[in-house]
Amino acid sequence: MNYRHAFHAGNFADCMKHVLLLWMLRALARKPAGFMVLDTHAGIGRYDLAGAEASRTGEWRDGIGRLRAAAETGEAMPEGIGAFLDLVERVGLYPGSPALIQAALRPGDRLICCELHPEDHAALRAAMRGSAQVAVHLRDGYEAMRAFLPPRERRGLVLIDPPFEATDEFARLTEALHQGTIRFPSGVFAVWYPIKHRAPSRGFHAAVAEAGLRDVVAAELLLREPTDPERLNGCGLLVVSPPWGFVEAAEPMLAALARVFAPDEGSARLVRITPE
Ligand SMILES: C[S@@+](CC[C@H](N)C(=O)[O-])C[C@H]1O[C@@H](n2cnc3c(N)ncnc32)[C@H](O)[C@@H]1O
Repeated sequence: MNYRHAFHAGNFADCMKHVLLLWMLRALARKPAGFMVLDTHAGIGRYDLAGAEASRTGEWRDGIGRLRAAAETGEAMPEGIGAFLDLVERVGLYPGSPALIQAALRPGDRLICCELHPEDHAALRAAMRGSAQVAVHLRDGYEAMRAFLPPRERRGLVLIDPPFEATDEFARLTEALHQGTIRFPSGVFAVWYPIKHRAPSRGFHAAVAEAGLRDVVAAELLLREPTDPERLNGCGLLVVSPPWGFVEAAEPMLAALARVFAPDEGSARLVRITPE
């Protein structure tokens, strides 16, 4: 396990994932019944962008750095991006998925986080100490899906955000979604994936459709045409059973992010993979 998210926190891909995640959590909170969020690959929770790791790559400057600057210059942004920027401000450090989800929980909601790297798990546990609504496990995120689904609330969201170090990650994701949706058919499942070149993400979409999953959409953001497989040219968030209104809300948010992150070559799209 070599991947450390601290080097990449707040980059364009994090902002895209976190903007859409926050929108979905707020959508779940429209109904009064409590919900559970399972964050299968959680990271350390909060990131100091002035710290050694983030400073070494400086990736955040082209992500949250650009987004903040655009908002400060008065560029019009969809409400969901404004809500994300407000949350980042409130948290102080850059919020990874656990801190972002924690900030969106209401008193009756809860969060389960899994992180397999021992140091990152310890950091996350320390960051979440004292929060009765948040449980942190040193545990494989895929295996945790079998253990924790379905949640007693029967409402909730599963975020699957692996580091893509394994060559078979897309195959593992497809299987995890297949099994996860059998256990928790009413759940929202969101999977982040990198786009270096087109073939792997196209193959993933096809495999998800072949696995028989219903109501699947993918939101994609490209900084440039994905022709150089050595670069992170864009990213996607595949969502199973998105909350009502997701596609309509995500389109303008993605378009705004593409304008901010890659004004010349950027693009965004929402693809429906299988029908409702
Ligand atoms: C992309 S990062 C997660 C970022 C986080 N979701 C966020 O948005 O702030 C992936 C994390 O998964 C952890 N990880 C790797 N394999 C794992 C596994 N099998 N189960 C749980 N965590 C794992 C890595 O240590 C890393 O911290």
